[in-house]
Amino acid sequence: MTDALLALDNVAVRIRSAEILRDVSLTVRRGAAVGLVGETGSGKSMTCRLLTGTLAVVGGQLSRGTFQYRGEDAGRWSERQWRRYRGRRIALVPQSSQSALDPLMPVGAQVEETLREYRAPNIARRTRELLHAVQLDATAALLDLYPHQLSGGMRQRVMIALALAGDPELIIADEATTALDVTVQKSILELLEQLRQQRGMALLAVSHDLSVIEQLTTDVAIMYSGSIVESGPTGLILADPGHPYTRALIRSRPHMAEHRARLESIPGSPPSPEDRPSGCAFRTRCPSVFDKCSSAVPALTGIDTHAHFASCFLHDVVDASLDEVNRI
Ligand SMILES: Nc1ncnc2c1ncn2[C@@H]1O[C@H](COP(=O)(O)OP(=O)(O)OP(=O)(O)O)[C@@H](O)[C@H]1O
Ligand code: SF4
Ligand SMILES: [Mg+2]
Repeated sequence: MTDALLALDNVAVRIRSAEILRDVSLTVRRGAAVGLVGETGSGKSMTCRLLTGTLAVVGGQLSRGTFQYRGEDAGRWSERQWRRYRGRRIALVPQSSQSALDPLMPVGAQVEETLREYRAPNIARRTRELLHAVQLDATAALLDLYPHQLSGGMRQRVMIALALAGDPELIIADEATTALDVTVQKSILELLEQLRQQRGMALLAVSHDLSVIEQLTTDVAIMYSGSIVESGPTGLILADPGHPYTRALIRSRPHMAEHRARLESIPGSPPSPEDRPSGCAFRTRCPSVFDKCSSAVPALTGIDTHAHFASCFLHDVVDASLDEVNRI
């Protein structure tokens, strides 16, 4: 499609001998709001590294598949090429403010320094505009504060301001609200949605929290053990999930469990990349596992007419039984 900003097609990423990502296909169109969901260790941040050209920092490399950005082969860009895109076209709000903010520099100076990197004109004015855009009152007193003197919500707003500094067309927010309390989380999510609409940006919202994804996105990809196991329209997937893992994630949502005696968590834990079982990676935790699940890896295939994909052999069974019914 011509309006695809980024497209990952069957991507694998390795760090040394470990295949951290495998079979990752994901498209983000201009101005779209897409979610990436999965438990801890499923590969969300590694996907963010791939999308921001920082795999080499952790010794990772694209080992299979393609990563296209606006039709260009971004998977092969050099660090020099990435410098033209990172921050200017594709910006990251990273998972931890510690990696994004310098604890020894006042926040105003940090925004100014980032703008200087992008060779922006009128730096003092742009700094105030950016802080205003993230709903911070850009007084001299605020500009002089150090990160540790800000609340978690204010720090998060500064990180969003830094991501906006290069005027990107895609923002990747990696767990942007995880560490915040519910009220602050809500205001940051509203801010992200407002900025996306005002600036016509696309958003890739990364989270393990389905409520965040429900609030921010129209499409979602569910990740398990380094692979996308389901993708499609957010509302459809939350109402009618096609993969047993997605069903388990939805059952473990806190607000769904409010009226239950205790939260239903997913039994077991995800395998590490070095320790994936043969066949379907979810089979050791799947309540619907059957013979075929250990013999082959299920491919991500369309399961209805709504651009809804899932990788689970149960759909083969359903389709085969439909064929059977049709023959009868
Ligand atoms: N620098 C690294 N070297 C080797 N393996 C790594 C490195 N960073 C992450 N991994 C492994 O890659 C896998 C995916 O990790 P990643 O950080 O992408 O998960 P995540 O989905 O972002 O989890 P979380 O929700 O905890 O942030 C994990 O198995 C992790 O142990
Ligand atoms: S392929 Fe088998 S193990 Fe994997 S999710 Fe489907 S039923 Fe479960
Ligand atoms: Mg992460």
